[in-house]
Amino acid sequence: MIKFDKENQIFYLNTKSTTYAFGIFGDAVLLHLYWGKLLHHDLHMDLLTSDFRRRPLTAKDFGVLSSEILPLEFSASGSTDLRIPTFRCVHNDGSSVSEFKYIDHEIVCGKPMLEGLPSTYFETGDKTDTLVVHLFDELKKVHIYLSYSVFEDLDAISRSVKIVNDGDKFDLTNAMSMTLDLYGIPQSDIVHLDGAWARERNVTRRRIVHGNQNIESRCGASSVYHNPFLAVCDKDAGEESGNVYGFSLVYSGNFTAGVEMNAYNTARVYIGINPFDFKYVLETGESFQTPEAVLVYSSNGIGGMSRIFHKLYRTRLCRGKYRDADRFVLINNWEATYFDFDEDKLLSIAEKASEIGIDTMVLDDGWFSNRNSDNAGLGDWYENPQKLPNGLKNLADRINALGMRFGLWFEPEMVNPNSELYRIHPEWVLHTEGRKSHLTRNQLTLDLSRRDVCDYIIETISNVLKKANIEYVKWDMNRYMSDVGSAILPCERQGEVMHRYMLGLYYVLETITSRFPNILFESCASGGGRFDPGMLYYMPQVWTSDDSDAIERLEIQYGTSIVYPYSTMGAHVSACPNHQINRTTPFKMRCDVAMPGQLGFELDLNKCTDEELEQAKTTINEYKRLQRIFHTGDCYRLNSPFEDDLSALEFISEDKNTVICCVYSKNAKPNAVDEFIKLRGMEATDVYLCENTQNLYGADLLMNRGIHFVNDSEHSSQILVFNKQ
Ligand code: DGJ
Repeated sequence: MIKFDKENQIFYLNTKSTTYAFGIFGDAVLLHLYWGKLLHHDLHMDLLTSDFRRRPLTAKDFGVLSSEILPLEFSASGSTDLRIPTFRCVHNDGSSVSEFKYIDHEIVCGKPMLEGLPSTYFETGDKTDTLVVHLFDELKKVHIYLSYSVFEDLDAISRSVKIVNDGDKFDLTNAMSMTLDLYGIPQSDIVHLDGAWARERNVTRRRIVHGNQNIESRCGASSVYHNPFLAVCDKDAGEESGNVYGFSLVYSGNFTAGVEMNAYNTARVYIGINPFDFKYVLETGESFQTPEAVLVYSSNGIGGMSRIFHKLYRTRLCRGKYRDADRFVLINNWEATYFDFDEDKLLSIAEKASEIGIDTMVLDDGWFSNRNSDNAGLGDWYENPQKLPNGLKNLADRINALGMRFGLWFEPEMVNPNSELYRIHPEWVLHTEGRKSHLTRNQLTLDLSRRDVCDYIIETISNVLKKANIEYVKWDMNRYMSDVGSAILPCERQGEVMHRYMLGLYYVLETITSRFPNILFESCASGGGRFDPGMLYYMPQVWTSDDSDAIERLEIQYGTSIVYPYSTMGAHVSACPNHQINRTTPFKMRCDVAMPGQLGFELDLNKCTDEELEQAKTTINEYKRLQRIFHTGDCYRLNSPFEDDLSALEFISEDKNTVICCVYSKNAKPNAVDEFIKLRGMEATDVYLCENTQNLYGADLLMNRGIHFVNDSEHSSQILVFNKQ
């Protein structure tokens, strides 16, 4: 619910358990007042103003006091606020001073979509409203519209900024999706997710110190290095206790996020497009829409924050036919064959897969053009005549005849110099005049800031999708961007290329996914290099990592779950010794680790033993029975694989009728100690029957004493299922 207290000039943005409040001071400036647990009483301006200045603050103070000490709801460069601003531009007189004053505001039902950008959305019947606050720079005739959408039942708020230029042309150099001044938080921590290829999304936690602490991407994608997410939390906040403020950006390109703590211990949190290499020209009458930031406050620790993000992203960010549907159990040929396959080999894997209940066969990289290694063919999306002499349609039909769906891999944003497309259109890649663009994985990036390139991709990919019965697509992207420049933009607009690339990509994805609503799309970027909310808007699942080792995956999936639900994580059972780190783990462990995600297999099933095939079959049946609970239940991270040798996860259905506890031994000891894993989220008075032991347990015992384990069998795992009696 959004309320405006006219007398005190205070906005209240209330969700079912939180309040976010800010006021208009001196009829002009927006000051942030509060964000945290739901307030039951109105705020009084006198109290708040005297509170933060030790003497009452009056309208006269503005222009006299340094605004650096104030918790500002919006900040523009050039004032006495020296912190990282929400907005900075360079006017055509060369100055970068702007000054905005409150003009008016509007509260609308629902949530307007952001033009050209992915965002959370509302559905009829939701308690979701939007506040739009209008600010204006009188001298330069620039308007700012701050949007706040309140998801009352989901306990989340989203924010974005629209800039409209009614004055002379200017260069926009900094456009954050939000800044927020959290005050009174000395000795807090920040939590963020960093990593690298094949070891994505480690959870990093560090104390906030004075100055700026920042994470960012300059890769042209959200990247493996940092995820577009940041949380600020109490220094003693834990997995299930303490105050946590989470910020996530619905964007897949270069981003920045950070906390700047000033000398008064006020921490400015910011998140938005990275100003690095960014300069957007706004002519008179033009506007700029920032991506959306999603804000989640939880008083129940990091786990509480995650559960809010999970539900919001699962139900009001992911879209389409597969948002709520059970997904496919697939077999992917990549780790089974790499580039070395033909029709017979693929069909022999598919046949084995269909025997054990796998329902979708995915043909990965290498099916097109002269693609026999990664140095040729990208851009030429027609069948490789040696490998698929009878064409894709024939292959899809034969796989369909086995009772399976057929899925296909693409990497549409890229081109190899050794390709027909590049030979015809060398000007279609990101490049700068006179320089040879740098290769990574032998490929260059197509310039998606160009509409003609986007339309070419749409038509070429659509033609392939139309010619065979393709029901799943893996959309890959395997390099970061360099040589950022576009042949068709004037020099003063070259700073727009990276953002225009993202707008182009979103246009392509919107067009293709709406043209083919029955196809399940999974995104991928060398594994989890673009695992972000922007991509989830178009594709409800992501290939989580190229590291398919079960033990490694415990950490990668745990880190990913800080923001993203298990329903979004592609998780495959692969062969051992593992191709990435050469480790051998039991087949059951590999199955149990993949189970809570979107289960798939990525190995040559013809090389599996009978016991392994039997285990795969059991896993698939169990998965089909339990996937709703993994994917729609509340997730509790009980023990962390980063800290504990015995890690554990719990999923509890919304009606609390079923509880699944997944337990994994990463390292074991002989003659090990007694350990107890405590379940969460149940009603203490309920009684559950454990399917595995056939014993009855009181929920209070399961939560207070816990389940007894002795971690003496390395790489063992258990999926325990409890049903309410
Ligand atoms: C990177 C992906 O993450 C892999 O799963 C595979 O599809 C390769 N690309 C193919 O080139």
